[in-house]
Amino acid sequence: MSKHPIRLTVNGGQYELAVEPHRTLLDVVREELRLTGSKEGCGTGDCGACSMIVDGRLVTSCLMLAVEADGSDIQTIEGLACDGRLHPLQQAFIDYGAVQCGFCTPGMIMAAKALLDSDPHPSFEEVQRGLAGNLCRCTGYTKIIEAVMVAARQEAL
Ligand code: FES
Ligand code: FES
Repeated sequence: MSKHPIRLTVNGGQYELAVEPHRTLLDVVREELRLTGSKEGCGTGDCGACSMIVDGRLVTSCLMLAVEADGSDIQTIEGLACDGRLHPLQQAFIDYGAVQCGFCTPGMIMAAKALLDSDPHPSFEEVQRGLAGNLCRCTGYTKIIEAVMVAARQEAL
């Protein structure tokens, strides 16, 4: 199958790739760029484990073709830590027990980041709604929402 040239900016790095037209953004980021933080849970847009921020918008990357992302600016979980320090959301997830098996965590944190980017001071209910597309089999969600609320308060300091 013929490959298509694409350019992606991922976590500030520039990449030029040639990809088959059927490959998803998730697949290309994981397999070609070796950024394996984003997970494939369902592959059908239902679990949110593959969430990335693409041109400022939260995207389930298992449903986006890599060729559709040509020219896009993409943030993945690997891009959040800065100068050796975890992002406040990452730290709050650790501190408030919002991580158990961790499979959902990268997607949860990217969804939370997209929410806080658009609304830095969400209510509990707004965090619930903002994370509604992300499934967690382990935590029961309460600690995740608490962690996002804590991170939002810290960001405001
Ligand atoms: S793997 Fe993409 S939404 Fe589940
Ligand atoms: S921590 Fe295990 S699925 Fe969320």
